Amino acid sequence: MSARPEIAVRISSAEIAARIEDMARDICEAMSDDTMVVPVLTGSFVFAADLIRALARAGADWPLDFITLSSYGAGTESSGQVRIVRDLAMSIEGKDVLLVDDILDTGRTLTAARQLLLDRGARAVKLCALLDKPSRRLVALEADFVGFSVPDEFLVGYGLDHAGRHRGLSYIGVVETGD
Ligand code: IMP
Ligand code: MG
Repeated sequence: MSARPEIAVRISSAEIAARIEDMARDICEAMSDDTMVVPVLTGSFVFAADLIRALARAGADWPLDFITLSSYGAGTESSGQVRIVRDLAMSIEGKDVLLVDDILDTGRTLTAARQLLLDRGARAVKLCALLDKPSRRLVALEADFVGFSVPDEFLVGYGLDHAGRHRGLSYIGVVETGD
């Protein structure tokens, strides 16, 4: 095993859990009975797993289907082009969609995803992001439900990765570079 880099905690697992309970109550109140939950993979899978259990506790039991999107480009910067890597299996026609993502950064991914679902006949699309980095926005977009607003630093853990790593951390943090 290689040495683990130091990760500085930014949002603890207890803080995440408490916030998700509040978000689930807000989402339940705002969405119709005809809602479908669409998490955007890969980063949102940990959040989505906790969110649907909080939604169940709050009284919602909605169908769920995943879409895997990828923006062209490497490193920590998304490009403008969003590509479907794995598509939905279910039809979203006529549905109210709760689009779930880990983090709203430039806004390109969720803008493209929302347009795609509207083009396919979704009745309405609401955006839910665990994290929001408003200072990074390149397209005008606000999420309807946000867990935490965060400053401009690259976060890992709780589903968020850097070059494929750190997704399994139960908290959200930053990799300490030592400089
Ligand atoms: P956007 O299209 O720039 O809004 O990018 C959103 C996607 O970029 C997210 O779904 C993440 O996969 C990734 N991303 C943006 N910021 C971070 C970060 O701080 N850590 C890990 N992934 C990030
Ligand atoms: Mg993502």
